[in-house]
Amino acid sequence: MALEGLSAYVYKAAAEGRVLTLAALLLNRTESEIRTLLGSVTQHGGQRSTPLIIIAARNGHSKVVRLLLEHYRVDTQQTGTVRFDGYVIDGATALWCAAGAGHYEVVKLLVGHGANVNHTTVTNSTPLRAACFDGRLDIVRFLVENHANISIANKYDNTCLMIAAYKGHTDVVRYLLEQNADPNARAHCGATALHFAAEAGHLDIVRELVKWKAAMVVNGHGMTPLKVAAESCKAEVVELLLAHSDCDLKSRVEALELLGASFANDRENYNITKTYQYLYLAMLERFRDPDNIFHKEVLPPVPAYSMRTECRTPRELDAIRHDADALHMEGLIVRERILGSDNIDVSHPIIYRGAVYADNMEFEQCIKLWLHALQLRQKGNRNTHKDLLRFAQVFSQMIHLNEPVKAPDVESVLRCSVLEIERGMTRIQHPQEPDAHSALENHECNLCTFLYLVCISTKTQCAEEEQSRINKQIYRLVHLDPRTREGNSLLHLAVDCSTPVDDFHTNDVCSFPSAPVAKLLIDCGANVNATDNAGNTPLHLIVQYNRPISDFLTLHSIIIGLAEAGAHTDMTNKEKKTPLDRSTTGVAEILLKTQMKLSLKCLAARAVRFHKKLNTRIRSPKHSRSLWSFINRGDPLFIMCMSILSRVHY
Ligand SMILES: *[C@@H]1O[C@H](CO)[C@@H](O)[C@H](O)[C@H]1NC(C)=O
Ligand SMILES: *[C@@H]1O[C@H](CO)[C@@H](O)[C@H](O)[C@H]1NC(C)=O
Ligand SMILES: *[C@@H]1O[C@H](CO)[C@@H](O)[C@H](O)[C@H]1NC(C)=O
Ligand SMILES: *[C@@H]1O[C@H](CO)[C@@H](O)[C@H](O)[C@H]1NC(C)=O
Repeated sequence: MALEGLSAYVYKAAAEGRVLTLAALLLNRTESEIRTLLGSVTQHGGQRSTPLIIIAARNGHSKVVRLLLEHYRVDTQQTGTVRFDGYVIDGATALWCAAGAGHYEVVKLLVGHGANVNHTTVTNSTPLRAACFDGRLDIVRFLVENHANISIANKYDNTCLMIAAYKGHTDVVRYLLEQNADPNARAHCGATALHFAAEAGHLDIVRELVKWKAAMVVNGHGMTPLKVAAESCKAEVVELLLAHSDCDLKSRVEALELLGASFANDRENYNITKTYQYLYLAMLERFRDPDNIFHKEVLPPVPAYSMRTECRTPRELDAIRHDADALHMEGLIVRERILGSDNIDVSHPIIYRGAVYADNMEFEQCIKLWLHALQLRQKGNRNTHKDLLRFAQVFSQMIHLNEPVKAPDVESVLRCSVLEIERGMTRIQHPQEPDAHSALENHECNLCTFLYLVCISTKTQCAEEEQSRINKQIYRLVHLDPRTREGNSLLHLAVDCSTPVDDFHTNDVCSFPSAPVAKLLIDCGANVNATDNAGNTPLHLIVQYNRPISDFLTLHSIIIGLAEAGAHTDMTNKEKKTPLDRSTTGVAEILLKTQMKLSLKCLAARAVRFHKKLNTRIRSPKHSRSLWSFINRGDPLFIMCMSILSRVHY
C-alpha cells in the first residue's frame, strides 16, 4: 500500500485509540517510513494535525501516546491546527491539546518525554493557559511543578490568572496566586484579573484577588472593576468592592448609581425594584453628612430621554418610586452621566429600551432613543451597520402597520448612513488589515441598508422641503459612488433582483429591482452607464429580472427610466455581451428593442437637427411625419438611421 493511503489508516487507528491496529500498521516499516507516517499531517473537520496531536487533544488515548512516545520516539514538538470550543488554535503542540482537553495522564506522559512546557501557540498561548481555561487544577499544578512559566501571557497580554478568573475557576486562581502570579498584571486592553472576575460576577474570585492585594485601577475604557461590576449588574460584587480600600465617596456613590441604573434597562437582569433601591442607597450616601452634602452634577436634558432631569434629592427620587417609565429614563440618564457619552457600553441599554417601546407599538419613543444611540455610537467612531439596519427594520414594520413614518427621521438615518459608508470606504482601502474582511461585509451591508432607507422614503409622506432634504443625502452618497466587491454601484443594486433584502420586517416593504428607488437615484445623479467589475451596466442586470409578467411595471419603468436618462443601450460587457444578449426573458427583450428603436429615433432626430443637408429636405412637417412612421415600422429604419448617423459623425 502506498504510504499516503496507509497514513490515513494510521491516523484513524490513533484517533480511535486502537493501539494494536496501530502497532500492526507500523510493523516492519523502515525508520524513515515510520517517521513519515507519524509525522504526516491529516486534515479533518477544520483541523490539521499529526496522529500524536489528535489523540492527545481530542481523545486522550494514553496507551497510544505511550506507544508513540516510547517505541517510536515521535517528536513532542510537532504542531497542528485544532479546534477547541469553537476556537481555532494554530500552532498547538500535543501538550497544549492534552492540557486544554483535560487529559492528565497524557500530559504526564508528554512532559515525561521532554515536551516543552513553555511552548506557545501562534497566539502565544501556553499549555498552562489551556489548562487554566479548562479549570483543571491537577494539570495546572503538574505543569507548574514541572517548571511551566506562569507569567507568559497570550498575544493580548492576557495572563493565565486572568483567564482562570474570567472562567470562574476559583481553585486555579487561588493556586496561581499562591505561586506568585501577579494579581495586577494588565492585559492589552488595560484590564486586570479583577476586572475579568468582576465583569463575570465571580464573587469568590473577586474576594481572593482582593485578599492578594489586587488594586482598583481603570482599564482602557476608564472603568474600574467596581464600575465594570456595576455596569453589568453584578450586585454582590459591587457590594463587596465598595469596601475596597481604594474606593472614595465618589466612586462608591457612582457605583451604586450605575448599578441601579443598569438594572433599569438590561434584558437579562431587569429589576426596577433594584433600580430604585440602589439609586436610593446612593442618594443616602450623598446626603449622609448634612454639613457636607455630595451634590450631583446633572447633565442638560436630552430629548430622547423625554427631557427628564435627573433626581437630585431623596424627595425627588421618592416621587418617581412607582413610576417605571420615569425610572427607566432616569437609568439611561445616570448611565450616560457616569459612563460618559463616548463609552462603548452606554448605547446597549438605550437600544434595549427602544426595542421594548417598539414591541409596545410606541414607535416614536423607540426612534428617539435609537437615533440618540446611533448618534452616540457614530460620535464614538463605532461600527453602526447593525444600528442602521435596525432603523430600516422598524420603519418597514411601521409602514407595514400603517403607522406614519416621519420624513425627518428617515433623513436623519440616511445622513448617518452616508457618513458610515464614507468611513467604510476609507476602511476598506486597506485590504491587508486584519479586520478587512468584516469591514467589507459591513460596507456592503450598509449599501443595502441605504437602499432600504431610500425605498422607505419613497413610501413616506414628505413635504416638498423634506423630500429635497432626503434627496440631498442621496445625492451626497451617489456622488461618493460607493461600490460592492463586484463593483456594483447603488443603481446596479437597485435594479438587481439578487440584491439581498433583510428578512426582519424589511422584506415586507422593500424588494429589488425597485423602480422608485432607481428613479430617485437617477434623479439624484446616478450614472446610468456605470459598469461593475464584469463590465455590466444596470441595464445588463435589469434584463435578467425573472418576474417580467407579474411585475411587468417594474421591469418596464426601469428600462424606460434608464434609457430616458441616456443609458447606453448596446454597451458590451467584458464578455462582449450587450444588454440584449443578456436578457433572459422575451418581455425584457421586447422592451429593450422598443427602447433601442426609440433611442434611435432620438438619435435620428438629433441627426436631423444637426445635419444641414438633410435639414432642408425634411423640414416640411409632412415629410418629417412620414419619416417617423417609417422609423416606427421596423427594420429598414435601422439602415436609414445608420446612414444618417454616419454622415453626422464624419
Ligand atoms: C519554562 O520557563 C521557566 C521559567 O518560568 C523556566 O525555568 C524553564 O526552564 C522553562 N522551560 C523550558 C522547557 O523552556
Ligand atoms: C517567564 O515569562 C515571562 C513573560 O514572557 C518572562 O518575562 C520571564 O523572563 C520568564 N521567566 C523565566 C524564569 O524565564
Ligand atoms: C427584584 O428585586 C427585589 C428586591 O431586591 C426582589 O425581591 C425581587 O424578587 C426581584 N424581582 C425579580 C423579578 O427578580
Ligand atoms: C451613456 O453612454 C452613451 C454611449 O456612450 C452616451 O451616449 C450617453 O450620453 C451616456 N449617458 C450618460 C448619462 O452619460
